[in-house]
Amino acid sequence: MLIKLDLPTLERPINANSGWSVDGMSSTDLYERINLALLMGIAIFANLIFSPTVTQLQSTKTEVKPYESDASKREQVEQMFDSISHRYDFLNHFLSLGIDNIWRKRAIGKLKSLQPKRILDVATGTADLAIAALALNPDKIVGVDISNKMLDVGRAKIAKRGLDKIELKNGDSENLPFDDNSFDAITVAFGVRNYQNLEAGLNEMKRVLRPGGKLVVLEFSKPSVFPIKQIFNFYSKYILPIWGKLFSGSTEAYVYLPESVKHFPEGEEFTDILQKCGYQNTNITRLTFGISSIYEGTK
Ligand SMILES: C[S@@+](CC[C@H](N)C(=O)[O-])C[C@H]1O[C@@H](n2cnc3c(N)ncnc32)[C@H](O)[C@@H]1O
Repeated sequence: MLIKLDLPTLERPINANSGWSVDGMSSTDLYERINLALLMGIAIFANLIFSPTVTQLQSTKTEVKPYESDASKREQVEQMFDSISHRYDFLNHFLSLGIDNIWRKRAIGKLKSLQPKRILDVATGTADLAIAALALNPDKIVGVDISNKMLDVGRAKIAKRGLDKIELKNGDSENLPFDDNSFDAITVAFGVRNYQNLEAGLNEMKRVLRPGGKLVVLEFSKPSVFPIKQIFNFYSKYILPIWGKLFSGSTEAYVYLPESVKHFPEGEEFTDILQKCGYQNTNITRLTFGISSIYEGTK
């Protein structure tokens, strides 16, 4: 198993050649670093402004589900994404200052050499990763998700842009409506953390992946380097819930997000699970100081 650090010279978004460069660093790399610096500045500034308020928002949850109810995690996750779907895209790009799109492009870049013709994007949400996957020039991309309202936003986006290679369907990662060996590649961005049963989802995705096909998972992880770790912890615990509530009306969703990241297996713990489920040639690429990671596995 390989672990790669996210250094500017090692990994590039697949469209990086189209930009300018300074001292060997592409415009995309610079953009990511400027965004991160801005994010840190905002976190420190918000600390000064909001510190009396934020203590009220600390989570007391012991179970990582969005709501305090008896409904299953799957039902709660569906309800939560239905409720924030109208603001999801805006908040994603705003709270990450656009870095999320760079991460998606990097994830898609992992499939470049495979040249997949049929791609399944699980937990597709509003279809941002499915849309990014068009850069691979496949014949067909199918996106599935349990939240109909997220899919509705995705369908509107696809229709507006005339992207007829992409089809979106309701579907659960643990019970996919496809035959065995149907896809050359499967992608999941920020989805596996929300699965009710992670191993069941990974096994089911392997069932519909053809032998030799590749799974690419993009997921949040926990940075371990000072001072990024401290800033990230502060930002996700205090800033995210405030801005999430402000713009989406849901405090729960943006308290659930860092809580679910905190308790989710990352790094080698995650690739051990991939291997247990029968994936081979597993690989980890850490992005932006480990705030996100890309995991790869082959059937
Ligand atoms: C954080 S969003 C990510 C959406 C999209 N992949 C992106 O990159 O923005 C997570 C999505 O996973 C979906 N989801 C959660 N559990 C799922 C499951 N078991 N099967 C399918 N979709 C699921 C949610 O409904 C939600 O739309």
